[in-house]
Amino acid sequence: MIKALLSLAAIAASIQLSNGATLRRVTCPDGNTVSNGACCVLFPVMEDIQTNLFDGGECGEDVHESLRLTFHDAIGFSPALTRQGKFGGGGADGSIIVFNDTETAFHANNGIDDIVDVQKPFIARHNITPGDFIQFAGAVGVSNCPGAPRLEFLLGRPLPKQASPDLLVPEPFDNTTKILARFADVGFSPNEVVALLASHTVAAADHVDPTIPGTPFDSTPEQFDTQFFIETQLKGTLFPGTSGNQGEVMSPLRGEIRLQSDSELARDPRTACEWQSFVNNQNKLQSAFKAAMAKLAVLGQNVRELTDCSEVIPVPKPANSKAHLPAGLNHRDIEQACRTTPFPILPADPGPVTSVAPVPPS
Ligand code: HEM
Ligand SMILES: *[C@@H]1O[C@H](CO)[C@@H](O)[C@H](O)[C@H]1NC(C)=O
Ligand SMILES: *[C@@H]1O[C@H](CO)[C@@H](O)[C@H](O)[C@H]1NC(C)=O
Repeated sequence: MIKALLSLAAIAASIQLSNGATLRRVTCPDGNTVSNGACCVLFPVMEDIQTNLFDGGECGEDVHESLRLTFHDAIGFSPALTRQGKFGGGGADGSIIVFNDTETAFHANNGIDDIVDVQKPFIARHNITPGDFIQFAGAVGVSNCPGAPRLEFLLGRPLPKQASPDLLVPEPFDNTTKILARFADVGFSPNEVVALLASHTVAAADHVDPTIPGTPFDSTPEQFDTQFFIETQLKGTLFPGTSGNQGEVMSPLRGEIRLQSDSELARDPRTACEWQSFVNNQNKLQSAFKAAMAKLAVLGQNVRELTDCSEVIPVPKPANSKAHLPAGLNHRDIEQACRTTPFPILPADPGPVTSVAPVPPS
């Protein structure tokens, strides 16, 4: 009772103080303040996931998987299919969780059942739709990764109606033309595709090569830094096609894996210069990824019906690594692909040559 009175008093005070729309704040039942009271429901969700899903605010496997899930839910959307009179999917609608029996069986969703199963009970105990939860968990999770931008979050996605159709999620063995066409279908330019792939700086693979689970795509999978764009440009070798590891490229760094799709996007004339532009530009990495994720998170949704609750997302810490070549390597180990601008000269890590550690399973 006293708490309720206090918060009423706080609301009154903030209204008096502001004497205009911009400064008006609402105090939530738990004492947090927001500019739109509809966003209050998110604080208990955030506390629960930070404590019980992300182990107190880490940028570990559950964050990586939650970020991957934002993509695999959202990309299940195809205006091209709709134009053919077919169901094109609902985009960022939570269908991957609600219709998990269908969507987790898609080949490209291999391994996604893990995080779907882990997220389900969180959704069940809060007042939030699966579509909102997936994007919220992704944005909060990414905020735990030093160097990340503070992602936007809009609230209010309705329940999904139907499972997404198969074959809309890109595969690592798809060629660049196919990948760019798939993203163009949902409104992303080649530059925006490169920006979205910054996500692979906080990422590892369990299933591309099942003999080496947790193998990261860069040497700093707990940081949202630019190392992914540097290390994918190192000279690598295509994994022998007969090995069964379709979509895998050997990185010269021991303990690191490279997706064939990332390798090709880093070298294709349509994307190589944009790829290279992120190598030593943390500010661009942040702003471009933030903008591209804002689009991804609302695919298939009517943005006018959503509420902007971005202010609820925590502000990430700055990255504590500086763009560098891994120890033991030098500029000659870079495979120059951009034809108009030389690859930036970077200092090499002075430390001893080590192998990259796997991301520990959660
Ligand atoms: C060309 C498009 C893409 C392809 C082919 C692709 C493919 C893959 C593959 C094969 C894995 C490894 C899964 C496993 O074996 O465990 C992976 C991991 C991951 N992907 Fe992508 N991806 C693409 C785009 C994206 C985008 C747009 C995002 C997010 C915005 C994303 C986020 C992630 C994350 C965070 C992981 C790491 C998951 C973990 O560590 O558990 N990917 N991706
Ligand atoms: C889908 O989720 C339910 C729990 O809600 C679970 O029992 C079932 O095994 C899941 N299906 C797949 C294919 O993972
Ligand atoms: C890319 O893949 C598509 C679909 O698998 C195929 O039709 C096309 O010929 C391929 N293009 C190139 C350049 O290999």
